[in-house]
Amino acid sequence: MSIPVTSLPSGERIPVFGLGTWMMGEIEKKRSDEVAALKLGLDLGATLIDTAEMYGDGEAEEIVGEAIAGRREGLFLVSKVLPEHASRKDTVTACERSLKRMRTDRIDLYLLHWRGSTPLEHTLDAFIQLQREGKIRYWGVSNFDTDDMEELLALPGGDACATNQVLYNLKRRRIEYDLVPFCRSHRIPVMAYSPIEQGRLLGAGALKEIAERHSASTAQVALAWLLGQPGTIVIPKATHPDHVRDNFGALELKLTKDDLLVLDRAFPPPDRKYALEML
Ligand SMILES: NC(=O)c1ccc[n+]([C@@H]2O[C@H](COP(=O)([O-])OP(=O)(O)OC[C@H]3O[C@@H](n4cnc5c(N)ncnc54)[C@H](OP(=O)(O)O)[C@@H]3O)[C@@H](O)[C@H]2O)c1
Repeated sequence: MSIPVTSLPSGERIPVFGLGTWMMGEIEKKRSDEVAALKLGLDLGATLIDTAEMYGDGEAEEIVGEAIAGRREGLFLVSKVLPEHASRKDTVTACERSLKRMRTDRIDLYLLHWRGSTPLEHTLDAFIQLQREGKIRYWGVSNFDTDDMEELLALPGGDACATNQVLYNLKRRRIEYDLVPFCRSHRIPVMAYSPIEQGRLLGAGALKEIAERHSASTAQVALAWLLGQPGTIVIPKATHPDHVRDNFGALELKLTKDDLLVLDRAFPPPDRKYALEML
C-alpha cells in the first residue's frame, strides 16, 4: 500500500503513517509476536518506525533491529534520547548504543524524548556532531510545548528541528490552540503519539457512529481524523496482527464533512491555551 507523505523542513518527504513500539520488549514471551508485528507492518508498506532507548530499556530497539534485518534501505527510523542522557557527551554515546541495538549505522530522525535539565544548546551540539558523523540524518524533539519550541528555534541551528512528537488524538486536541499552528508555520511536522489513546478512545459513541457509516473500525476513524490534519504523522503501536492490518485501513478511509462535524461536537477543539499534556 502506498502511504501519503509530508515534508520535513529540509524538503525530504516522509510517510504520514508509521509503526510505534512503546511497551514492546517488556515481556520476553511477547517478543516474537512483536518482531512479527513490525515485520507485518513493513510487509504491508510501512517504512517509518518510531522507537526510543527508553522502551523496554533498550529491548524495543533490539526488536526493531531484528524486524528490519536485511531490509534497512528505504526505511525511516526514529529513536529518542532520554533527557538524563542529553548532555553533549552522553547524547553521542546513547545514540551509539541505539545504533548497535538496531544493528544499523544511522538513525534517520533522533529526538530529545522530553525536556530535562540539560541546556538545549548542549543537546543541540551533540545532535550536530552526530549529524556530521553521519550517525543521524535529522534531529527533533518530543513533548515540547510552544514556549520550548520558541526557545529552541531561537538558538543557533535550532531552526533545523525536524519534528515535534507530541500526544495528539481526538481526546487530546488542546495543542491545536497554539502548538500545532506554531509547528505548521515553521513547517515542522507534528508526530502524533498515542493516536488512539492507547485503546481508550475506541469505545467513544461518536467514533462508533462514524465507523458504522463507513463499515470501518473505531481505530480507523480515530487515525483517519489525525491523517486529515495537515503535516501530521501518526505512529500507532500494534502487536496483534489484526490490529496492524486494521490500522492500515485508516489510510483508505475518507471522512466526510458531516463526520468531521460529529467529531468536532464530541471532541471540541480548544478555545484557550492549555499546557501540553504528556503520557
Ligand atoms: N514521545 C513520547 O513521549 C511518546 C509517548 C507515547 C507513545 N509514543 C510513541 O507513539 C506510539 C503510539 O502510542 P502508544 O503506543 O502509546 O498508543 P496507541 O498507538 O494509541 O495505542 C496502542 C494500543 O492500542 C492497541 N491497538 C492498536 N491498534 C488497534 C486497533 N486497530 N484496534 C484495537 N486496538 C488497537 C494496541 O494493542 P496491541 O498492541 O495488542 O495490538 C495497544 O494496546 C508508541 O508506541 C511510541 O512509539 C511516544
